[in-house]
Amino acid sequence: MATILAIETSCDETAAAVVCDRQVLSSIVASQIDLHRRYGGVVPELASREHLLTIGDTVKEAVSKSDLAWSDIDAVATTCAPGLVGALLVGMSVGKTLSMVHQKPFLGAHHLEGHIYAAYLEHPELKPPFLCLLVSGGHTSLIRVDDCGQYKVLGKTRDDAAGEAYDKVARLMDLGYPGGPTVDRLAQQGNPKAFRLPEGNISLPEGGYHPYDASFSGLKTAVLRLIERLKADGIDPLPVVDIAASFQYAVVRALTKRALRCAQDQDLPAIVLGGGVAANSSLRQVLTTTAADQGMQVYVPSLKFCTDNAAMVACAASEHFDRGHRSSLDLEVYSRLPL
Ligand code: KG4
Ligand code: ZN
Repeated sequence: MATILAIETSCDETAAAVVCDRQVLSSIVASQIDLHRRYGGVVPELASREHLLTIGDTVKEAVSKSDLAWSDIDAVATTCAPGLVGALLVGMSVGKTLSMVHQKPFLGAHHLEGHIYAAYLEHPELKPPFLCLLVSGGHTSLIRVDDCGQYKVLGKTRDDAAGEAYDKVARLMDLGYPGGPTVDRLAQQGNPKAFRLPEGNISLPEGGYHPYDASFSGLKTAVLRLIERLKADGIDPLPVVDIAASFQYAVVRALTKRALRCAQDQDLPAIVLGGGVAANSSLRQVLTTTAADQGMQVYVPSLKFCTDNAAMVACAASEHFDRGHRSSLDLEVYSRLPL
């Protein structure tokens, strides 16, 4: 199998990694979270500038920590979509330059494919078909994976992604950015049954609910109304841990129910969790135990491979490399691109 140097700069992490045969030789992530925190979210222009400042050292460190020489590296890959265009362009320009200078083939990689393949890094034995529950800041999808490049999106959110819902609910409670990890931490101290919140069901015209799709914007609005009501009732301070726990309970139930139903309907033996929200303690635990009760295997990457990193991108790119795929140096970046 190939040895790939990958670069990931689609949002607010500058990352580079070297992966050989689904084994991580080095994985460097320079997070910009502190820079964006004071603005309450990612500022695209600042993200691009910071990537420019950090990318050189990040790549150098990834190569040096891999203990390999450039002659051992078979190809250079960079995330080409989806993401912030300016941010993606930084990684892409550096990747293309390295590929030209060192005369290595170049591959553009899909960020979401990276999240799907993150689980391979610690479970090299994993084989499709499986269902991927991909939950990140921008996407919440149930994806049937039959092979590398063969994906079918069976369910998604109609509006906010799960991570987006976490970040927005955190903002409602002034918990800072990014909200996911903070809400997760607070939720562990609260009562998940304190407030009943909707699970984002999508009604079907013929009656009943869509089995796999969900809406998280309604859940966010329900939290807003709850906070307004508690404030109007003079409740001060707000029961933040109980709100966080009740919100998390609704999200985790919505995701787990849909993923299990979908995997069963599709007769798939395993569920692979991926994306930033896959770092959520409750989702990891509830999905794993509920699936085990039904004889289904769940593959959960460790935390560092759930949130954005370049090792997952290298892993996805190496699957393509082994199938003979290469990208042209004319490849562009795309803010949106279906899998
Ligand atoms: O995959 P990712 O790093 O970036 C995107 O591709 O979007 O996901 C980032 C998202 C953010 O919305 C963040 O709040 C959320 O993942 N997140 C979490 C947790 N850690 C990160 N959400 C819930 N619980 C967590 N522990
Ligand atoms: Zn991501």
